[in-house]
Amino acid sequence: MKILVVEDYAALSAAGAEILESTVREKPNCVLGLATGETPIGLYDILVKKYAEGLDFSKVQTVNLDEYYPLEPTNEQSYRAFMNMHLFDKININKDNTNVPDGLAADVDKFCGEYEALIDSLGGIDVQLLGIGRNGHIGFNEPADELYPYTHLTALKEDTIQANSRFFENEADVPRSAITMGMASIFKAKRIVILASGAGKANAVKTLATGRITTACPATLLHLHPDVTLICDKAAYGNN
Ligand code: PGA
Repeated sequence: MKILVVEDYAALSAAGAEILESTVREKPNCVLGLATGETPIGLYDILVKKYAEGLDFSKVQTVNLDEYYPLEPTNEQSYRAFMNMHLFDKININKDNTNVPDGLAADVDKFCGEYEALIDSLGGIDVQLLGIGRNGHIGFNEPADELYPYTHLTALKEDTIQANSRFFENEADVPRSAITMGMASIFKAKRIVILASGAGKANAVKTLATGRITTACPATLLHLHPDVTLICDKAAYGNN
């Protein structure tokens, strides 16, 4: 794992955006694996600026990591709405080429199988962007004795519900479940970029930086992937 420690959030956003930008330039029909949450917003803002300067997203395809379940895609807290608001509505991407798990899937198991098949049919993900939870989750692969390889429905941990309640009016409004890509779905990506910003992520980054692997911190499994770049700011890197 390459670890890039940068000064602050602005530098982290710029470094992450540069990787996605160069992927789009080198391979205009690339498949980007995208993430939601507070961390990638600055990166998406930069990509929107790059689009204004001529970066072409017309052939890009995207696959998002996860979506709350159950939640309508039109709900402003849905990850579909997040992606539309922060990126898709502001660039020339074809919305038909953007994929976010269906928060209203009637047959969840069937949907999860189809989502996994979709990732494969796109030829795999060129670059997968990840955030990291305070508890070390990636996507909604929460710390547990056992992790799931493929796209699946999962219950959110109490600390994740609390962390994400900042986006909702009340904690009670946070959905208790989500559909998420699994560890193997993420590992299919040719390249992975994981972003960590702020002191709240320092514990998770510390565990990650030990280089050891534990399902108690799912991000540590990334040490098994051949091409991972962790970009963190000084606050997240702490005293490592
Ligand atoms: P955050 O979420 O970017 O809002 O901190 C990251 C995550 O939970 O994966």
